[in-house]
Amino acid sequence: MTRVLSVASECVPLVKTGGLADVAGALPGALAACNVDMRTLLPGYPAVMAGSAGAQVVADLGDLFGGPATVRRAGLGDQVLYVLDAPHLYDRAGSIYLGPDGKDWPDNPERFAALSWAAAHIAAEGIEGWSPEVLHLHDWQAGLAPVYLHGMGAAGRVGTLLTIHNIAFQGLAPENRLEALRLPRSWYNPGGIEYYGQISALKAGLIAADKISTVSPTYASELMTPEFGMGLDGVLRDRQADLSGILNGIDLDVWTPPYNSPGGKAPMTRALREELGLPECDGPLCVVISRLTEQKGLDLLLNVLPTLLAAGGQLALLGSGDARLEAGFRDAAERHSGVSVRIGYDEALAHRLIAGGDVILVPSRFEPCGLTQLYGLRFGTLPLVALTGGLADTVIPASPAGLAARVATGFQFAPVTANCLRGALMQMCALWQSPQDWQKMMENAMAHPVGWDQSARTYAALYQTLKKVT
Ligand code: ADP
Ligand code: GLC
Repeated sequence: MTRVLSVASECVPLVKTGGLADVAGALPGALAACNVDMRTLLPGYPAVMAGSAGAQVVADLGDLFGGPATVRRAGLGDQVLYVLDAPHLYDRAGSIYLGPDGKDWPDNPERFAALSWAAAHIAAEGIEGWSPEVLHLHDWQAGLAPVYLHGMGAAGRVGTLLTIHNIAFQGLAPENRLEALRLPRSWYNPGGIEYYGQISALKAGLIAADKISTVSPTYASELMTPEFGMGLDGVLRDRQADLSGILNGIDLDVWTPPYNSPGGKAPMTRALREELGLPECDGPLCVVISRLTEQKGLDLLLNVLPTLLAAGGQLALLGSGDARLEAGFRDAAERHSGVSVRIGYDEALAHRLIAGGDVILVPSRFEPCGLTQLYGLRFGTLPLVALTGGLADTVIPASPAGLAARVATGFQFAPVTANCLRGALMQMCALWQSPQDWQKMMENAMAHPVGWDQSARTYAALYQTLKKVT
């Protein structure tokens, strides 16, 4: 058994803003089959506290960045969850990352430094007689843990893996917060945690963790380029030997199609059109389930929507985020009967969209892994995706070769421009006219492995290499 503490700022089913929550929620179960005893540490936001009523205090951390903090042990199914209970940092309504003004909470550096500190403390001191051999740290919110571990004198005993889910978020704080964040000034230099005159929690993790991973092999290579590295490509090139890309999986029990062959989809599509008020139609029903941000490239889709509609397709979108994109899609739905838009977050509708849709669109400018194209594969909802990151690694395009070999599972386009997206939509609509080819692609997609098996084994092997005391 390898003992691993996974440290994340969100985790299903308690709190989710994106795919990180799904991954953090799935890893312990997936790894249990690989001889890994993984427990999870999560901040005690109201939703997490409510979901762990009666949880016992198992560690007292004293004053932690301005108020008392304890660690409580809660259960999540048969998994062990440690909750960092620090009301001054987490007991507040609204988004877990953003204040009512839509900007980061001003004390985010302290809020997630506290999470990292608690992780390092558990690793250094043990908890309830259990000591992790490896800390698996997710994103900048856990990035300071390896630095604290050094300060606690435990870096020689506990291995650390930092997983980058999205390098666009780096956890910056002004230099004058160094002491308040309990960070040694000796680390504050360009080879350390300094990033252009600020403290970077992500860079701290990239410098100080024993190994680094990201969520797809292609994103691992992209991260080392100026185009995708967002200022940290040089740091990642320096650490190339310790960097790997391990694809995300999806929870096959949560994402199970209510049919087991392509023929079962038609009733779902009919029901979905009826639910959304979309007219009967012979063309493909395209769906999108996404945060509406620059990353996701949905402004390009707005641009080329008339082409999709003219070719007989329809669009059903579920998402929220950027006000301009929300307004743009709302407006498109008002103007076109073939467009349905739901602004908001709705897990059940997301399932119905994947089940009833013919195509799932993911035109991202960058995509570390992406989960919705994986749901699409499993449900025979063919992914039409940008050729980047995990999208490149999971979809086999309907290129002439892919079609001739009868292995294609979806559509890809590059570079990520409106014109190329338009071309891919045209290709998709043309292929829709060949039901036999389409059905073969659905079969291929539904047979494509999208579970955690292989990646869980890869993580387990990586943890083995990180164990320091045998
Ligand atoms: P990211 O983490 O960058 O947002 P992913 O594709 O990895 O992208 O994960 C997004 C997750 O969030 C998926 O599980 C997707 O179904 C879900 N999701 C995104 N937006 C919504 C929404 N509006 N309603 C329901 N689920 C959503
Ligand atoms: C990030 C990425 C997404 C990835 C998810 C889980 O939010 O944007 O591509 O699937 O993390 O790793």
